[in-house]
Parts: sequence; C-alpha cells; structure tokens
Amino acid sequence: MAKKEYIKPFIKKQTTGMMNKFGRSYHKSYRDEIEGVKINAITEKFGSPVFVFSEKEIRKTYRDIYREFSSRYPKIQFSWSYKTNYLDAICGIYKQEGLIAEVVSEFEYEKARNIGYRGDQIIYNGPFKPEKALKIAFEENAIVNLDNFDEIFKAEKVAEKLGKKVDVGIRLNMDTGIYPQWNRFGFNLENKSAYNAVKRIFKSEWLNLKGLHSHIGTFMLEPKAYAVQVKKTIELMRILDKEFNIQLDYLDFGGGFPSRNKLKGTYLPPEIAVPPIKDYVEAISNTLLSELTPDEYPLVYLETGRALIDEAGFLITTVDAVKRLPDGTKSYIIDAGVNFLYTSTWYNYKVEIDRQVQGAFENSVVYGPLCMNIDVVLENVSLPPLNRGTKLILSPMGAYNVTQWMQFIRYRPAVCLIMEDGSLELIRREENLQDVITPEIVPEKLKKK
Ligand SMILES: Cc1ncc(COP(=O)(O)O)c(C=O)c1O
Repeated sequence: MAKKEYIKPFIKKQTTGMMNKFGRSYHKSYRDEIEGVKINAITEKFGSPVFVFSEKEIRKTYRDIYREFSSRYPKIQFSWSYKTNYLDAICGIYKQEGLIAEVVSEFEYEKARNIGYRGDQIIYNGPFKPEKALKIAFEENAIVNLDNFDEIFKAEKVAEKLGKKVDVGIRLNMDTGIYPQWNRFGFNLENKSAYNAVKRIFKSEWLNLKGLHSHIGTFMLEPKAYAVQVKKTIELMRILDKEFNIQLDYLDFGGGFPSRNKLKGTYLPPEIAVPPIKDYVEAISNTLLSELTPDEYPLVYLETGRALIDEAGFLITTVDAVKRLPDGTKSYIIDAGVNFLYTSTWYNYKVEIDRQVQGAFENSVVYGPLCMNIDVVLENVSLPPLNRGTKLILSPMGAYNVTQWMQFIRYRPAVCLIMEDGSLELIRREENLQDVITPEIVPEKLKKK
C-alpha cells in the first residue's frame, strides 16, 4: 500500500449555515412563507406587525386530539376556551368542527351567542358571574359551574326569581401533586368544602347538581396530574350517588395541556420538554375506563385552550433599528411590543428570519417600540446581524395574545387567516383613531371651539 501523502495541518474558518466540514443543513435557515403564502405578500397587504393564523393547522390539531380521545372514550365533547382566542373567525372554525363554547364572563357569553351558539352549547365558568348574566344563562339553559358559596346563594336567588329549578355544576380544586396548587377557584375537595357545597345544593329548592368541573392549572407539564384529577372527581361522583342519590350528567376536566412554546427558564426545547398530547389523553381516558363501568360513563367535557391554537399563530414583525448598547450588546428595535405580546412574559418565542443572512450569530436583545423600559420582546436571543427592514416571524403566537393585548400608545395590528385553499383573509383589521375615541365623552366645556 502506498504511503499517504503528508498534508500540513491548517485552520479553516467554518461559517454557520454554509457548506463546511459539518455538512450543510438540509433545512433552510430562513423562512419566507407561512403555509405557502409569502411573508412579503402578507405585510404588503396588511402591514407590519401582523398576526397570522393558519386554518389548516387549527383544524388539523383539533381533529388529531379529538381522534385520540374519541377512539379511547366514547362520550367526549370539547369546548373552545374563549379567553384563549375569541376572534369570531377563529371561534367559527371551532364551531364548525363541533366544539361548544367555554366562557368566563358575560362579554364572552354574549360573543359566543353572537356567532350563533345556543345557551345550552355554552359552558359558563369563572369566579364572578353578575346576577344579570346568571339570569340570562339560566333562561337559556347554559351549563353553569358555580365557584363559591356566595355564588350558590346568588344562583338560588336568580332561579327563585325566574320561578324555575335550574341545573348547575360546581367547580372543584384539589391536590393533584402539582405545586403551587391552583386553589383559588371552586370548592376544595380535601377540606370538604366541595362536600359541603354538594350538601347545600342537595337541600336547595332551586338548584339541581348536574356536573363537576375542575381546571387544575395551565401549561401542565405532568400528564399524571390529570389521572389524579379524574380519580378524585370520580370518588366524589360516587359519594353523590351513594349519599345523595344524585346522578351527574357530566364531568368537566378543564384545560391546561401545554403547547409547544418554550417556557422561560427551561433549557430543553419544547420538542423534548413538553410531553405529547397523547400522554394527557391517555392519563384521562385510562383513568375513566379503569374507574368506571360502561353503564356509568358520564359525558366528559374538555376545555383545552392553548394546546389547540398556539402553534397555528404567528406574528410577523419588522426590524426598525439596530443599536449597540453601551456594554456592547447588540440590540434591535422592532415594531411590535409587549403591549401585543402578553405571553412574552412566559415564553422565549421561536424566531425565524425572512431572508438568508450571512455573518456570525451574536447574543442580542430585541426591544419593542414602546417608550417603556419593560418593553423587551426577546432577551438573550442568538441572531445573525440583521438589517433594518428584516422581518422576524415569531411563534407560537395563537394563544392568549390577541385577547390579552393592550391598546397602549399604538393601534392594535391586523390579524389575518390563511385559509385552507391558500387564500388570505383579514379577520381583524388594524385599529384606527375612531376605534379608540368612540367610547370617549368630552364635557361640553372642554370641547374645542
Ligand atoms: C376554566 C378554564 N378552562 C379552560 C382554560 C384553558 O386553559 P388552557 O389554555 O391552559 O388549556 C382556562 C384557562 O386558564 C380556564 O380558566
């Protein structure tokens, strides 16, 4: 065998993303489209920033989870958690998919009624239900879950005034092994407050107990907590049957499944840190099936919010300025701030760039456009050098942002929906001055002359 030729060692600079000894990444390192619709086409039409939703993704995510559940347990009904995203177009998709509505305020109740939900297709939760709203909910046979003893008394008073005995559920809180425990909503199981609520409703001339509800938390990273929740709820259901001869119509296990967002403070990416939805579905359905006989199966409601919608939403935002901070940190100012991004408090969003960028990545900070020190959208994010005008695509964005956003200093941006056929629809236009000043009233003396 011939002796190999000696090659002198050398140092060669490797550029990330380029062809090099590590091979070239198969995936594009930039994103110039969402569902085949060009980023530029979206911003040319609706401006920047702009929220973008995918109809295809919304339907697919729901159908997948519904299939997982309904193939294991026969009596399942999902209800759309309005507060997660109550844009009419989004709720309209869920309505078409067969979900009922879950609301926590009279405003949300009205909004659900306004798109055509009947009262009996609405679950009314929340710790504060004004008498007027309860009256409407009872008249329209909504599924009402009561939160506290004062609300039991209030509900009795309303039912008495209506002259009809009404169906109610109660909300429970319990120790599922997850701390801190969510214990401010509903009646506690362990200290017998729930049992006392049942006793009180049992004696009532005006209320029928028909259901048990609990929502054990949000972004729950432990599926086993749901097995505990289901088991404890069934234990109470059996007590109701044995001691009070009350047979329930439904058990409602709330929401709380996590989305594939990256919680601040977690090191691992969501693909590794977040259990698959299937594990949650199994925890619930396996417990139902093992604890109950088929003739006992109650109707089960789920109020899944963020896990259904988060990954179907994006925000396109534009770099407006590039700036070095005095300590050398690279910083950017973008056109969307924390006023539109309530969830930036909890998440490190995924950041994609709309074009190929050359150059070394640097730990950077991305500020919003508000004249407020707290307006930090991305902290310590590794970015290549970006120029003014570069667009960033932030995700997942679908849950809680377009409900918890604030009209602070700036008009709230447009929201659009990429339809299943690839067409682009505006589902909420950008706000304007008239939207903001319409509810305002100026006393005569202060009107400009
Ligand atoms: C009563 C109730 N149901 C459902 C949800 C939806 O929760 P998630 O988005 O975590 O699924 C919430 C949100 O906190 C809630 O309070």
